[in-house]
Amino acid sequence: PRQFFVGGNFKLNPTSRAQMQALVKVLNDADLDLNTEIVISPPSIYLIPLKEIVRKEIKVAAQNCYYNDNGAFTGEIRCTPTSIQDDNSPLTHPNSAGQLADAGIPYVILGHSERRTLFHETSEEVAQKTKAAIAAGLSVILCVGETLQERESGATTKVVSEQLDAVVKAIKEEDWAKVVIAYEPVWAIGTGKVATSAQAQETHLAIREYLTKAVSPKVAEDTRIIYGGSVNAGNCKELSLQPDVDGFLVGGASLKPEFVDIINAKK
Ligand code: 13P
Repeated sequence: PRQFFVGGNFKLNPTSRAQMQALVKVLNDADLDLNTEIVISPPSIYLIPLKEIVRKEIKVAAQNCYYNDNGAFTGEIRCTPTSIQDDNSPLTHPNSAGQLADAGIPYVILGHSERRTLFHETSEEVAQKTKAAIAAGLSVILCVGETLQERESGATTKVVSEQLDAVVKAIKEEDWAKVVIAYEPVWAIGTGKVATSAQAQETHLAIREYLTKAVSPKVAEDTRIIYGGSVNAGNCKELSLQPDVDGFLVGGASLKPEFVDIINAKK
């Protein structure tokens, strides 16, 4: 059985540390379903301060990282923040997931549609980043999804498969244990237009069938496929009942108290 997974992608929010602390307080005080894996992803400048105040059951994720670990790459983000390096640095033990988890940043979101669209990331770059993140011991929330035009022209499965193809080529079969796939139709992100549960289930199943062929039946069975795009407290229950929907990646609603209800969708 796949553990249900709920991620909060704060994007470039909140706009102040005080707002972030208020958000964390709501989560720290809430009665959360701890059978669900819970991950929150603040802007990079808040990763360490947030990690220090959030309850230990909630994991923290970066929203991006670069595929080179150091060098002349102004403005890029390494897989592990410099400030948490010490003698046990995960960088000197590149395959030690345990040590990275200990450092508090076990996950990174990669390939979000906003990165692909606004910052022109290609599927090949996303694949390189995925490979580098896994080599550094991170787990990856790998985002894929089609535009409205692509859906209307019947290209959804093709588009999503092509986005995944690049990653299939870049990583090994065992690496998939470190990947959560987030299916986020672009037309549903920040629009209030959530996919119907039938639409989500259909594409999640198509992704699983793709993984069966492109990687292995075991990886297809074990990999969590979560849905993102206008998830809220009102629609999460029905989506969560679909057999191939293993959780959510939540944008706007993760900044509101209703995020607790989404985390508890399976409760
Ligand atoms: P919204 O929940 O705001 O639609 O955003 C979804 C998303 O992009 C999560 O990564």
